[in-house]
Amino acid sequence: MKELVFVLLLVTEASSRSNCTLSRLGCDCPRDHRFTICSRLNLTQLPSRVPTSTELLDLSGNLISVVPKNIFSTNRKLRVLLLQNNNISAMEDGSFSQLEFLQKLDLSQNRISSLTGGFSVGLAFLRELQLSHNQLSSLDSRSFLHLDGLQRLNLTNNSIQSIQVRSFSSMSSLRQLHLQDNQLTSLRSGTFSMLRSLEVLNLAGNQISKMEMVVFNPLTSMTLLNLADNRLSTVNFKTFLSIHTYSTHILLQGNPWTCDCELHRVFRKLRSIQRLFLDDYANLTCAEPPVLLNHLLKDVDSELCIAETVTVLIITITVVITVLAAMLMGERKKKKRRKGMHWTQQGDFSDESDF
Ligand SMILES: *[C@@H]1O[C@H](CO)[C@@H](O)[C@H](O)[C@H]1NC(C)=O
Ligand SMILES: *[C@@H]1O[C@H](CO)[C@@H](O)[C@H](O)[C@H]1NC(C)=O
Ligand SMILES: *[C@@H]1O[C@H](CO)[C@@H](O)[C@H](O)[C@H]1NC(C)=O
Ligand SMILES: *[C@@H]1O[C@H](CO)[C@@H](O)[C@H](O)[C@H]1NC(C)=O
Ligand SMILES: *[C@@H]1O[C@H](CO)[C@@H](O)[C@H](O)[C@H]1NC(C)=O
Ligand SMILES: *[C@@H]1O[C@H](CO)[C@@H](O)[C@H](O)[C@H]1NC(C)=O
Repeated sequence: MKELVFVLLLVTEASSRSNCTLSRLGCDCPRDHRFTICSRLNLTQLPSRVPTSTELLDLSGNLISVVPKNIFSTNRKLRVLLLQNNNISAMEDGSFSQLEFLQKLDLSQNRISSLTGGFSVGLAFLRELQLSHNQLSSLDSRSFLHLDGLQRLNLTNNSIQSIQVRSFSSMSSLRQLHLQDNQLTSLRSGTFSMLRSLEVLNLAGNQISKMEMVVFNPLTSMTLLNLADNRLSTVNFKTFLSIHTYSTHILLQGNPWTCDCELHRVFRKLRSIQRLFLDDYANLTCAEPPVLLNHLLKDVDSELCIAETVTVLIITITVVITVLAAMLMGERKKKKRRKGMHWTQQGDFSDESDF
């Protein structure tokens, strides 16, 4: 918490300006060179000789395309490194390995398409990693290998289609995982298996249509699960039942729900679970069957099982009638046999006489 406040302080105080060794490039170094501000200067390369006392280095909004190895070897005091909105496509292995005190790294709005195992070397104390608006298409066990202390990971708006099962396995401290606006189609169990501190899991705006049954089971701290704007047409009750938390809010609007009796039953059961809150239930709309297109689920909810109820009722009544008839018939036969025997003994009537 203390570190986060410090980071905030650095970011907010970085506005006052004064001179420094990089003035020739147009940079400013306020607060005794603790900040080095070189944003929006059309730099095409990372500057060498950044003052060693620098704790916040802002290089955002330039045209930098490569982060070479050892470029920060004299900047061990860096706590915040802002590289967002550049043209970065390549980071050499170990580029950040000397930044042992780095807490925030912003690489959003670049052209990064893969993360190698060497990318995260030395970043064991990193708290926040911003990687939104890049070109990542898959994550694997090497992507975040050394990020043991990470608390917030933002991967919004990449092109992520697949996440290998051990991709997040080093991140037992992670609290927020932002994966919205990617291209995920399914969630496999094991994907989130080490994320026991995760509080926010944002998966909105993907194309998820399938979720394996126990995929959310390891997320025992999760307070918010956002699955809005995906391709879910139905859900398995057990997928959400297996969320073992104190209280979790789940968002599900913007999915193409198939409004049938089964869905009605699943939601009725889900809504009765005390620890789960379906905050946007009132906003869920049907995509199927065609007659219910764009109807709110809550408006048609009570009718979805009517057909089934009527069928069940008819079957029940038929069965009851059949059983009753059989019993009645049996009873009659028995009576008659007794009667017949009686009469026969008397020698008056034959068995078949009544029918
Ligand atoms: C900063 O540098 C400019 C010239 O580059 C100079 O005029 C100015 O006095 C310097 N300011 C400080 C605070 O040193
Ligand atoms: C950066 O380049 C753009 C376009 O070439 C130009 O308009 C802008 O003035 C440049 N900015 C600086 C600080 O040189
Ligand atoms: C961005 O980097 C690529 C090479 O990776 C280069 O071809 C392109 O010209 C760069 N764009 C800008 C605006 O510097
Ligand atoms: C994640 O990145 C998006 C896009 O850059 C941004 O709008 C959002 O505020 C970020 N979220 C967090 C929690 O950092
Ligand atoms: C993602 O970013 C791209 C450009 O970087 C943009 O065209 C697209 O609209 C964005 N998608 C969303 C859902 O924000
Ligand atoms: C439901 O939809 C309305 C209108 O689009 C919106 O104002 C409201 O915030 C939504 N509710 C939730 C819980 O997202």
